Formats: sequence, C-alpha cells, structure tokens
Amino acid sequence: MSQVYNYRACASLMLLGEHAVVHQGFGICAAIDQFITAKLELRDNKTILIKSSFGTYEGSIGCMPIKEPFSYVIEAINVFSDFISTGFELTLTSGIDPNIGFGSSAAVVVATLGALNLAFFHSTDPDRILKDAIKTVRQVQGFASGCDCAASVYGSTVAFNPRTFEIVKYHHSFDLTATYCGYKTKTALMINFVNQRLKQQPKEIAKIFAEIENLATLGMRALTNNDLHRFGELMTAQQHHMKELGVSNQDLDRLFDLLKSHQAILGAKISGAGGGDCVIGLGAAIVHLPIEMHGAKIIHLKTLPGYYGMS
Ligand code: MEV
Repeated sequence: MSQVYNYRACASLMLLGEHAVVHQGFGICAAIDQFITAKLELRDNKTILIKSSFGTYEGSIGCMPIKEPFSYVIEAINVFSDFISTGFELTLTSGIDPNIGFGSSAAVVVATLGALNLAFFHSTDPDRILKDAIKTVRQVQGFASGCDCAASVYGSTVAFNPRTFEIVKYHHSFDLTATYCGYKTKTALMINFVNQRLKQQPKEIAKIFAEIENLATLGMRALTNNDLHRFGELMTAQQHHMKELGVSNQDLDRLFDLLKSHQAILGAKISGAGGGDCVIGLGAAIVHLPIEMHGAKIIHLKTLPGYYGMS
C-alpha cells in the first residue's frame, strides 16, 4: 500500500496592523476554527496530481506550469521542488469559504507545504514551512506581509513582523463575530490605493501608519496581559484609521456601527485590506444584518490557542 500523509492548516483573520504592516512594524493575526486538509499519497512514477472540489490538475516532477484555480498550490510545490523525489497525488479538502477573507490562500499553501514536509522530510519544522509559505504567497500575488501564513502555521494568534520574521505567539481562545458585507475587493488593489495616497500625501499617511503600528504594539501588550477589553478598544481605534486611509465604505461603516452598538462586543473593525469583505467584532453577538445588503452573512468564530500539523 502506498504511504499517505495528512496535514491540516487553519484559516485566519487579521486583528490589528493592516496596511501599516506592509511598510513597518507588526501585524496581529488570529488562527480561527476553519480548516483545510491536504492528503498526500506517494506514487511510483513522476506524475503529480492535484484534486480538489474545484477540479483536477496534472503535472510532473520539474514541470508544473501555473494554472488557475491551483496557482497557490502549484507555486508551493514549485518552491519545494528540490526535495521532491517521486510523484504523488494531493487531495485538498477545505471547510474554508474561499469567497470570504479568511486567509484560505495562505491556509492551502501551509497545508500543501505541511504534507510535502511530512512526505519528503518525515518531519514538520514550522519555521521552514512559514518561510516557504511566505515565499510562495509573495511569488503568486506580489507583496504580502505573511501574517496570515504565520497564524495558519502556528494555529494561534500571532504578532508577526514581515521584515525581521520576528514572531510572538499568544495562546488565548476568544470569540469573534465576523460580518461579511456580500463582496470583496482584491487585497492588491487596496494596497495600491493606499500606496497612491502615500505618494500624494506622504506626511499624513506616514502619521496614520505610525499610529496603526503603535496600536499593534499596544495590542501585543494587551494580549500578554490577557486584557481583551483593552484589545477591543485598540481594534476600534484602528477602525478610525482605516476610515482615514479611505479603505472603509458605507457598507463597512454600517456593519461596524451594528457590531459596536452590541453590548457583547468589546471592539470592532474591518479585518484585512478593506474595500469590502468583513468587519469583525471581538465577542459573540447576534446582529441583524440590513436586508438590502445582498449576500451579507454573519459567521461566529473562535480563535485557536495554538496547534499545527496533525498528521
Ligand atoms: C490584508 O489582509 C492585510 C494587509 O495589511 C496586507 C498584508 O498584510 O499583506 C492590507
């Protein structure tokens, strides 16, 4: 019987530091309780077969041209290619909604690299998986801080500095309420928009980045002190800077107001680059979404206290 290796990686949500982390300092990202599993079965030939609910892809060792919708998985295999000595079948099973910004691309890369490490190294070194995951994601989409990769690799809330690769892990588990506005704007577009503003108004935008960076640093202290009330206040403070950056909009402002006015919510903000996607609240709340917001959804999540792999 051929050998089979399984590796499970989790989804993630950005909590603090967005946009500023592209330029300076730390971002804070939480691992959440949604997962993708990569099952890798070795073959006796040079063929590499990828299977998922999106379809199948066939390549061979050393010949894996990038093709959608498998660009992230193929790039991860290419990044690892020096260590691949035999063909395999890789089956990806995901419980993460790819249309919502829950870090599904980072998670699929981490799951793929985890299974490859298990199959060809018989071990999983999280630092090596993280380095390769960030390299993969940056090759596919240009710049990415990699905060979502770090949360996905360690299965916990992490503070991550993309320039130094410094990482601090926090082992809390808390409730998050995510409200999805019904559409998403590509992260790269939002980063370009903010970069344009930085060119036009360097002093003003640099000041906002410095304030966001400071909030992330204060957030690290709040997590160390296990002070979720303080962490919630910092999230709300960042939302004001997201508005100043111009990455919020009417729908996101409405979701923020809904969450913020609920007594169970300690703080709220956009999660990720903005322009659409999710506003998250710290705490568990049932809020009634505006009926005219087509495709809007509420998702209750728990952050993970630290875990990775599970072969
Ligand atoms: C996107 O989730 C968050 C940004 O800070 C980009 C990144 O961290 O790569 C806008």
